[in-house]
Amino acid sequence: MGKKNIRRILVTGSEGQIGSELVTELRDRFGAGNVVASDLRTPDVTGDAAAGPFERVDVTDREGFGKVLQRYEIDTIVHMAAILSAKGERDPGLAWNVNVTGLLNALELARDFDLAQVLCPSSIAVFGAGCPRENTPQETVLIPSTMYGITKVAGELLCDYYVRRFGVDARGLRYPGIVSAETLPGGGTTDYAVEMYYAAVEGKAYRCFVREDTRLPMMYMPDCIKGTIDLMEADFDGLVHHGNFNLGAMSFSAGELAASIRTGVPGFEVIYDPDYRQEIAESWPTSIDDSAARQEWGWEPSYDLRSMTKDMLEKLTARHAEGNLYREQPA
Ligand code: NAD
Ligand code: SER
Repeated sequence: MGKKNIRRILVTGSEGQIGSELVTELRDRFGAGNVVASDLRTPDVTGDAAAGPFERVDVTDREGFGKVLQRYEIDTIVHMAAILSAKGERDPGLAWNVNVTGLLNALELARDFDLAQVLCPSSIAVFGAGCPRENTPQETVLIPSTMYGITKVAGELLCDYYVRRFGVDARGLRYPGIVSAETLPGGGTTDYAVEMYYAAVEGKAYRCFVREDTRLPMMYMPDCIKGTIDLMEADFDGLVHHGNFNLGAMSFSAGELAASIRTGVPGFEVIYDPDYRQEIAESWPTSIDDSAARQEWGWEPSYDLRSMTKDMLEKLTARHAEGNLYREQPA
């Protein structure tokens, strides 16, 4: 399997933390006109979104979603629209609707329009009580404690089902927490890792919502983008797994992150004040075994904590000096 495509891509959730940077890279590789950005939210037209087409798409509205696929003769959906873990605990029904109904719509539309590929990220949130937390294996029991995790397990199973039952080329990766300097994260448990850098660059103390010893798997955005596109481009026939590749890069505790930031911002202060997200973090792995991704499509990350901190501080410090640390967020 693996249908020929010319890569006319629709990215859903394109205004989010990952979608916003992925659209830029996909446009560089496949041509601006071949990558349609879409979200519920309207983009900031002065930003990167102005470099190519944008459509407002609500992924829970199958008819509207399908019309955009048809209008642009899309062959690939990169499905980034989602409600993340912390926001999902505040509105579990919304998380189910967006994450499960939205993905089901993408997969059904892939059948209707004979699309070449659907890629939908999963998450370390699929794991939960009963999983080995250290070097968590690809294959293990999945009993997540959050609605977000439940939707991500359902999403992985849906992707695999559509591969087996209908021959849809559906793929997915279990991202760890993603750290990035461009777009702020959208309501996840790992958001503290990004927020800590922003606070440090502003010269403020950071009130961290997980304990100092909380250790989670994380990844820098350039690796996330590379891994996503590498999986999109991998030969389907070489894949044993489909919707659920573990993806690792680095693991660190909140305290180790603060110490790393202090190498560039001496005196940076963190106050640890755990809230409901502590329990979510503790239900997730501390590190990930990603050997299946390495073997099946050559996954290899580039950044560790030290190189990520150097790059994050350089980028955010430069923006802060320009008075543009918090880029204007879309409406
Ligand atoms: P985000 O919250 O930053 O962005 C999600 C986007 O989806 C938002 O722009 C939002 O407006 C949009 N959206 C919400 N409901 C929608 C709807 N009904 N129709 C269309 N768009 C809608 O999320 P992200 O961090 O960019 O995550 C992208 C994907 O990666 C998600 O599947 C997420 O679960 C997964 N993931 C992210 C991380 C991370 O650390 N960022 C980690 C693991 C997995
Ligand atoms: N970063 C994500 C979250 O915290 C993990 O999927 O929700």
